[in-house]
Amino acid sequence: MEKQKKLMNQYVADLAVLNVKFHNLHWNVTGEIFKPVHEYLEELYDELFEYYDEVAERLKMLGEFPLASMRSYLEATNVEELTDRDYPYEEAYKIVKDDIESLRERVTEIRNLADDNGDFGTVAMLEDQIAEFDKQIWFLEQTVK
Ligand SMILES: [Fe+2]
Repeated sequence: MEKQKKLMNQYVADLAVLNVKFHNLHWNVTGEIFKPVHEYLEELYDELFEYYDEVAERLKMLGEFPLASMRSYLEATNVEELTDRDYPYEEAYKIVKDDIESLRERVTEIRNLADDNGDFGTVAMLEDQIAEFDKQIWFLEQTVK
């Protein structure tokens, strides 16, 4: 259970950092399809921000303090931040797709650990999130095909 909780806290940190990172792309994406990409990124970070709260509250239910400071997020996260510059939309989509795919891998590991630990509340929560990542990955693949 300790490893699961540690990875869940890393996930909280990843979601916090992705919130900033996807705002960066939302603001700085460029190209002829700026508007739909801009709007898509907003939907995506809103969704991830809901998961951020959901996973943190699940940690509280498991008797653990969720990470709750920017400093701790930067120490714990697996996400690489971006500089502030223009991002042509193809590049922005590629960045988002890579981030969602690696997040999906890490969340699957947590889901499997939770299953081993008999923590079915966490399993159910993460399965829903993974299914949503699958949808996003499909969307992104179709867009850059
Ligand atoms: Fe905005």
